[in-house]
Amino acid sequence: MPEILSKDQLISIANEYGTPVYVYHAEKITEQYHKLQSAFNQSNTRFFYACKALTNINILKHIRSLGCNIDCSSINEVKLAVHAGFEKENILYTSNGIAFSEIEEAVSLGVNVNIDSLSNLEKFGAKYGHSYPVGIRLRPNIMAGGNLKISTGHEKSKFGIPIEQMDRILSLVEQYQLHIVGLHIHTGSEIKDVSVFMKVADIFFDLVPHFPELQFLDLGGGFKVPYKEEEAGTDVPLLGQKVGEVIQKLKDTYQRDFQAWFEPGKFIVSECGYFITQVNVLKQNGQISIAGVNSGFNHLIRPMFYDAYHRIENISNPSGTKQLYTVTGNICETDTFASDREFSEIREGDLLLFYNAGAYGFEMGSNYNSRFKPAQVLVSKGQAHLIGKRDVFEDLLRNQIEL
Ligand code: LLP
Repeated sequence: MPEILSKDQLISIANEYGTPVYVYHAEKITEQYHKLQSAFNQSNTRFFYACKALTNINILKHIRSLGCNIDCSSINEVKLAVHAGFEKENILYTSNGIAFSEIEEAVSLGVNVNIDSLSNLEKFGAKYGHSYPVGIRLRPNIMAGGNLKISTGHEKSKFGIPIEQMDRILSLVEQYQLHIVGLHIHTGSEIKDVSVFMKVADIFFDLVPHFPELQFLDLGGGFKVPYKEEEAGTDVPLLGQKVGEVIQKLKDTYQRDFQAWFEPGKFIVSECGYFITQVNVLKQNGQISIAGVNSGFNHLIRPMFYDAYHRIENISNPSGTKQLYTVTGNICETDTFASDREFSEIREGDLLLFYNAGAYGFEMGSNYNSRFKPAQVLVSKGQAHLIGKRDVFEDLLRNQIEL
């Protein structure tokens, strides 16, 4: 049975904690993680939750309790992971464009590190030589992902060391006797096509002979999740099967065992999350009415930033007559959540429920227009728990220095 929260439960959470509010469902996260585990049971695969998607400490603790590892994109995320109780062996820091001091800090915490530039690789070699195992993030020159903003592997991308600079990498490895245990490639987010991951696997396949101490091949994150009811995500069972075959082929060819690593963010938390807003105003606008809600791109930036589609439902009036609406926020510039979409009749005060709000929703929120960040609620074993307070006025002034 897929894990979903009932509309009644969501309405009662909105009534109790107010709106706008993010609601997360722990059992849905568990279900997603179990899907990964069963899809990859033919290979020795480790999953590192890309926590940039959602870092609430209770979500991190829940994910840790499942036995999942964690991928971090800043030293602060590493520290949050430590705080949530992840063991250092289970924390991965995949850096990009960072100061070497952050890498030193990560090393002092004993976590796994992937390095993404020649200059940091050189500094790493000069300081640690062979003493600290490390992974290298490569840029494969593959265009993939849902849109350009979330594509990271193409030939103009800032991410990773361009694959054509492999000679330079190899000479640094030799010069400093670097202890290279992993190769990493993340080509983007929302990759539906399994063959993209297989292209990455082919690249790794050819590179293996250069790195005698290699243990893991990290294919990044980026599994696509369905946003529309009829939409399909990445075929994770197929991917699991293909990865199993690649790992076996590597073993047959090189007589060595390799682990596959993945860093899924959206796959683990997108569908566990709901965002509930309330309609402040209705404006008649010809055939299509505008429903203005008590939120905006300050709380959910994905529609405006990526043209992302979020399914939205009027949960206060599910049997109302169907009509066309444009749903907008209350920010002082255009912030459209949905254009010309059919909803059951919307009245002022109705609750609109946004789906797929777990990943990169609250996490990318801001206080633009001096609005408060929403509350966050976690439903676990049928019980709702407040896990993030709505801002209060003092929060807006907290770090300001009044002269
Ligand atoms: N690993 C690395 C190195 C990454 O840069 C990312 C995401 C992931 C893993 C996880 O990707 P996921 O499985 O979540 O697709 N804010 C955008 C997505 C940006 C993703 C950035 N990097 C959005 O809301 O669509």
